[in-house]
Amino acid sequence: MKISSIKGFADILPGEVETWQFVEQKAREVFALYNFSEIRIPIVEKTELFSRSLGETTDIVEKEMYTFPDQDAKESLLTLRPEGTAGVVRAYVEAELYKVEPVRKLYYLGPMFRRERPQKGRLRQFYQIGGEILGRADAYADAELLLLLGEFFSNVGLDGAALELNSLGCVRCRPAYRKELLAFLAQQENKLCGNCRRRMERNPLRVLDCKEESCVAITAGAPSIQGFLCQDCREHFETVQKLLRETGVDYKLNPRMVRGLDYYCRTTFEWTSDRLGSQNAVAAGGRYDGLVEDLGGPPTPGVGFAMGMERLVLLLGTREFDADGARPSVYFVSVGDGARAWAFPAAHKLRRRGISVEMDGEQKSLKSQMRRADKVRARYVLIVGDDELAKGTAVLRNMDNKEQVEVRLDGIDEALAERINAK
Ligand code: HAM
Repeated sequence: MKISSIKGFADILPGEVETWQFVEQKAREVFALYNFSEIRIPIVEKTELFSRSLGETTDIVEKEMYTFPDQDAKESLLTLRPEGTAGVVRAYVEAELYKVEPVRKLYYLGPMFRRERPQKGRLRQFYQIGGEILGRADAYADAELLLLLGEFFSNVGLDGAALELNSLGCVRCRPAYRKELLAFLAQQENKLCGNCRRRMERNPLRVLDCKEESCVAITAGAPSIQGFLCQDCREHFETVQKLLRETGVDYKLNPRMVRGLDYYCRTTFEWTSDRLGSQNAVAAGGRYDGLVEDLGGPPTPGVGFAMGMERLVLLLGTREFDADGARPSVYFVSVGDGARAWAFPAAHKLRRRGISVEMDGEQKSLKSQMRRADKVRARYVLIVGDDELAKGTAVLRNMDNKEQVEVRLDGIDEALAERINAK
């Protein structure tokens, strides 16, 4: 019986996975450069963690979470994490990381789950690489994260990603904007789509995010949040921009960018690429100064981002990477029972010295073994037959320049190690 994978859940196969490994390695390097530590958080959390932090009226919480009853605790629900920030903050509070050192720079890599309609660059299980700075309210932290991302994009060879910035204000200044926006929307309510009419009641800022043509046209004339920022929020935002200008990071202001999660305040941002189609955000994030306190911790500001791996890999394409890891150093070709008996423990010995060895499991012909050695791109082939074995010799073929030499089996691991490491 053939069982296929679930819609929106993808395999990452050899050939593609090398790009992923390359990206992950570059991410770890850049995080180390900026003094981030890795944190690994569970994939399943209590549902209330997400409904509380992302917001009850967000699309994610309303309709996209994979939620199921907890068999061990009646009436409790569990959810596959739709993002990483909530879990990181929960861990920060639960382990009281703030007690030892309130400023923490944390990063994570891993799968997230959202029941969205799958399409190019949008999956139901997708991978994020995310970074969070907890305990820093200053604008330098926001700018530092954006620099880190810019550095990372340049290290992986991504060009053409554009940075859009906005400030969503804070609990003090946003209510006035919300009121003004609501008054504006109310005048055109009958022209808005059904979704937006519903959003108006619960979360009017989200109307600015609607992709329906009629709604986009109406909200083009909506008041901008920029005019409503309080002095602190304005100064914060101006400092972020000044720091970006000083470090040569290009950006564009987008006062309509509201983001799909409720925990944000002040700086929000998205890196987009027009090569991605409608799912154009490759990384996004912002400030969430109230979240730690909301989740039971002491008042602690925070700012972070997450990047979508699938989207980044789409943009990078499958490129030729140094695939030495997947290329055996030596392929053992053995002909005859005696040679086979010799080869298996000899391969084991070499692997223990850190040299990758591949060999055939079946007694195939010399020709077929050579073909396979070629296919897996072995650097050397060691050909051993029963006759050679009796003489204590074998033939070593360099597959790159096709040179062949006779070698002595006595001390062969030394000889091979020397050649391979010399490269
Ligand atoms: P987000 O905008 O929901 O933010 O997701 C961040 C990135 O994850 C997106 O820009 C996109 O690249 C990728 N992504 C999201 N959904 C999907 C999907 N269904 N398929 C493929 N890729 C997807 C967050 O998740 C926040 N936690 C970011 C953050 C961290 N804010 C502060 N700290």
